[in-house]
Amino acid sequence: MKIFIDSGNIKEIEGLMPLGIIDGITTNPSLLAKEPGDYRENLKTICRIVQGPTSAEVVALDAEGMIREGRELAALDEHIVVKVPFTREGVQACKALSSEGKRVNVTLIFSAAQALLAAKVGATYVSPFVGRLDDIASSGMGLISDIVEIFENYQFTTEILVASTRGPMHIVEAARLGADICTCPAAVIEALFKHPLTDIGLEKFLKDWEKTQKKP
Ligand code: G3P
Repeated sequence: MKIFIDSGNIKEIEGLMPLGIIDGITTNPSLLAKEPGDYRENLKTICRIVQGPTSAEVVALDAEGMIREGRELAALDEHIVVKVPFTREGVQACKALSSEGKRVNVTLIFSAAQALLAAKVGATYVSPFVGRLDDIASSGMGLISDIVEIFENYQFTTEILVASTRGPMHIVEAARLGADICTCPAAVIEALFKHPLTDIGLEKFLKDWEKTQKKP
């Protein structure tokens, strides 16, 4: 399973890349708006650092505007994936952009029906938001399970990019279900490393080693 960083923060991304576990980046207008500087330059820098798929979202609401913005974003760097929201207009824009060979990530997916339609119009990725579903007492992972089953039934090549992840168990459950990618905020990636027994075990190993070294 691939791991993406859900961030537009260059320092955060630079800090995580050396781990060797990062396969790509997702951004959205909320994340890019938080960062200083020109968002296009920031996206180019992120692509240069990551050398992997980097989602950049359109903000137009009409298909024509989305297609125009999508082409502009895709021209920034070969690693840019155009992100469009799941709306009627977004579906049309996805069809047009994917037909001209651009990779499209259809975002704000909250139902299996939406994921099915996005796959039909050639989306490279669908982004179901698990955390936001859990927030309203619905099952984020239930949605992932449904999409995995549907995509397998019809051999869709669209990848399932689990978004709105809030903690390590979202990543573990997504991997158990066979999702292709999880995009995670930096804090969730840090949490994947943590286990108190690892810390306790390491401390004990080092203490025991120190005792041995002190023996005459
Ligand atoms: O990239 C979009 C998605 O991951 C948003 O997450 O935590 O705002 O629901 P969140």
